[in-house]
Amino acid sequence: MRVFKVEGKYPLNGTIEVSGAKNSVVALIPAAILAGDVVVLENVPELSDVYALNTILNELNVQTTFENNTLTIDASNVRYKALIEGAVQELRASYYLMGAMLARYKEAIIGMPGGCYLGPRPIDLHLKGFQSLGAEVSIENGAYHLSAPNGLHGSKINLDIPSVGATINIMLAAVHATGITMIENAAKEPEIVDIATMLNNMGAKITGAGTDTIRINGVTTDAMHGCRHQVIPDRIEAGTYMVAAAIGVGEGMEVKVDNIIPEHMEAFLSKMEEAGVNMDVDLDSVTIRQSSPLQAVNVKTGVFPGFATDLQQPFTLLLTQANGASIITDTIYSARFKHVDELQRMGATIRNEASTGIVVGPSTLEGAKVTATDLRAGAAMVLAGLIAEGITEVHEIEHVERGYERIIKKLTNVGAKIWLEEI
Ligand code: EPU
Repeated sequence: MRVFKVEGKYPLNGTIEVSGAKNSVVALIPAAILAGDVVVLENVPELSDVYALNTILNELNVQTTFENNTLTIDASNVRYKALIEGAVQELRASYYLMGAMLARYKEAIIGMPGGCYLGPRPIDLHLKGFQSLGAEVSIENGAYHLSAPNGLHGSKINLDIPSVGATINIMLAAVHATGITMIENAAKEPEIVDIATMLNNMGAKITGAGTDTIRINGVTTDAMHGCRHQVIPDRIEAGTYMVAAAIGVGEGMEVKVDNIIPEHMEAFLSKMEEAGVNMDVDLDSVTIRQSSPLQAVNVKTGVFPGFATDLQQPFTLLLTQANGASIITDTIYSARFKHVDELQRMGATIRNEASTGIVVGPSTLEGAKVTATDLRAGAAMVLAGLIAEGITEVHEIEHVERGYERIIKKLTNVGAKIWLEEI
């Protein structure tokens, strides 16, 4: 079994370069099949989810080469195939193949997607959107069957919840639908703008991405072509390392988290400031120095531009080091609190009630054997290890490897003591 071992209390100092956004790239890769041409993606993180998507594209006869964070996707000979098991079940984002294949082939069969357990994660809004565009949807033997024998047609779709996945999936499906599709109450996350930007560079006609109404003017497959696209920085990875810096920077030292877009993380940065983190926000970086004692703050996650749910777990760890009682509420995933038990094991004073974590700090953390129950919980455990007494052993690290490129190297570069071990 592979585990991360972290020896705590090594002061952090230096620069951490942020990678491209996982949650963007997992949709950009499926979107690339809409071109029937060559799409070159730059700033692609080396993550297991990216490799899994490449394997899926290869099954569709799409050639991929991935070198130096540049992924070349040649979909000139793409062909339809039902994707029932195998790589498709390794990650949740394989559901973007539904929208992309429905657009291209008017048909898709996709095995139930995997991914992190964060409580129930229905995809009813994706399916309702596809139905509204004219697709028939059924579930047979654990796979989604989608088909639109008469083609897809533009439609007005009002999402009950501004779901990131549903917004992207419907946008993908609607690229080739006849007429105009309007997605109302759309999600506004920066990743959605990134995907719309690439699709437009490939010949799609999408306006309004980043607002709550997205309009897609359907175009034919022939109107699409290849492009070169630079993936936006990963705001969640950036926030995770900012938490590491806020709790771990050495006296008289500083940690710069570089290659970011601060406008993508304003709610998070303002909570960091409210908690008393000593930081300078620049155009494309944030520099963090040792803070006076951190202060308790209350946080509620929300859809963009609110405080990202994906940063709730790392930020909870920061709150274990702050003076006083903090309440952190997750309005997106009420059950995203598995990290609470693990942090308790390390000595944090923290409890979970319904969709809330109640943290009383500051706590001295002790190294322990902990589990990365999901991706961001795993990141919180690694960060906890950085400040704990002794050695922390993080199990189930494959969750962490789904979302953090070269985490060991990035942390080691700034002075942390963390390594991979086979036990
Ligand atoms: N929801 C429904 N029905 C749907 C879709 C969503 O009820 O059809 C609910 C969900 O259960 C959840 C809420 O709506 O309570 C928001 O879900 P959303 O669809 O926005 O999330 P997602 O697309 O499944 C993406 C990210 C998540 C991130 C969320 C929220 C990807 C691959 N995943 O998930 O990222 O937490 O948006 O911002 O983009 C992570 O990176 O650790 C991660 C889990």
